[in-house]
Amino acid sequence: MDKPRFYFLNGGKTAELDFANLGFDYLRCPYRFEAVFEHGIWRTRGVVEDNVMHLPEGSQALHYGQELFEGMKVQTGSDGKVYAFRPLENARRMNDGARYIQGPPVPEDLFIRGIEEVTLANLPYVPPYGSGAALYVRPFYLGVGDNVGVKPAKSYVFRIFVTPVGPYFKGGFGPDQGKRFRVSEHDRAAPQGTGHIKAGGNYAASFIAGHEAKGHGYAEALYLDPAEHTYIEEIGAANFLGLKGKTLVTPESHSILPSIVRRSIMEIAEKLFKWPTETRKIPLAELDALDAAACCGTAAVLVWVQEIVGKDKSWVFPFDERWQKLYDELVGIQTAARPDPFGWRYEIQG
Ligand SMILES: Cc1ncc(COP(=O)(O)O)c(C=O)c1O
Repeated sequence: MDKPRFYFLNGGKTAELDFANLGFDYLRCPYRFEAVFEHGIWRTRGVVEDNVMHLPEGSQALHYGQELFEGMKVQTGSDGKVYAFRPLENARRMNDGARYIQGPPVPEDLFIRGIEEVTLANLPYVPPYGSGAALYVRPFYLGVGDNVGVKPAKSYVFRIFVTPVGPYFKGGFGPDQGKRFRVSEHDRAAPQGTGHIKAGGNYAASFIAGHEAKGHGYAEALYLDPAEHTYIEEIGAANFLGLKGKTLVTPESHSILPSIVRRSIMEIAEKLFKWPTETRKIPLAELDALDAAACCGTAAVLVWVQEIVGKDKSWVFPFDERWQKLYDELVGIQTAARPDPFGWRYEIQG
């Protein structure tokens, strides 16, 4: 497959595309996919070129945050095929969000068709196997219309853009890549609010915590539960994992995003490796008793948490070989370097 020598930067400038040295940045690819919901039906516009959207100024997405997004990776497999990872789970999570923000669901077949079409249209931008990079796919959903009242929109835009990306946390995964995190005093979501859906407003609410953490030299903020500030929630845009003796533990909470990667890792641990697993509340104070910590998500993949710094206390964790085992299995399944016993790979191009 021919790979492009150039990508387009905003402003019409071009620069060379170096798959092995990408950060997690927006690089404008030539095509995006769009569908519009009007008068009660979804109409597919298909693949379009314009990366600038023209929206009514009264749109609910702009004023009241009636917006959802998703994130997934498409990767070239060791067999040269192009795969998405569990895209139906992203469709379902987006539709859980649509129910909550009172918009129409995106039909699952429309969602999947969009992923396929936008990937195929931008195929030269899918990084090659072994580059460590992936095509990040960003489906999103906006309530639009001529409106000023606080109420859900009647019309919606569903769009998907793609961009090739490298590691989310600089350096990615490895025994020499420990990351440090800072316990935040801020909450990203309310106890019975929108933390469990991928609504844009949750992320605006997290910027202050991220800014403070990074300003103090940490990779990201660690959130505590918004009701009591006692239990671990998640880390930036990644869910938390801990090893306690033989058991892999991860937090249970209504206000964290149910990570598809976390669910996959828990299933790999439980069903393939036969490790004991627990999904339950984890008090911050229980960090004293954990042997290792990590965080995971589509963008982050799996990251070794080397240190967590709280208000009056900090915790240091060694690299644990079990993180390597989980990472290798997850990425192996995603990239067809290993068998796919769960049927998680979704072939886009054979
Ligand atoms: C707040 C938050 N937590 C966790 C995750 C990880 O979820 P997933 O594994 O589905 O990417 C994400 C990213 O989607 C996120 O935004």
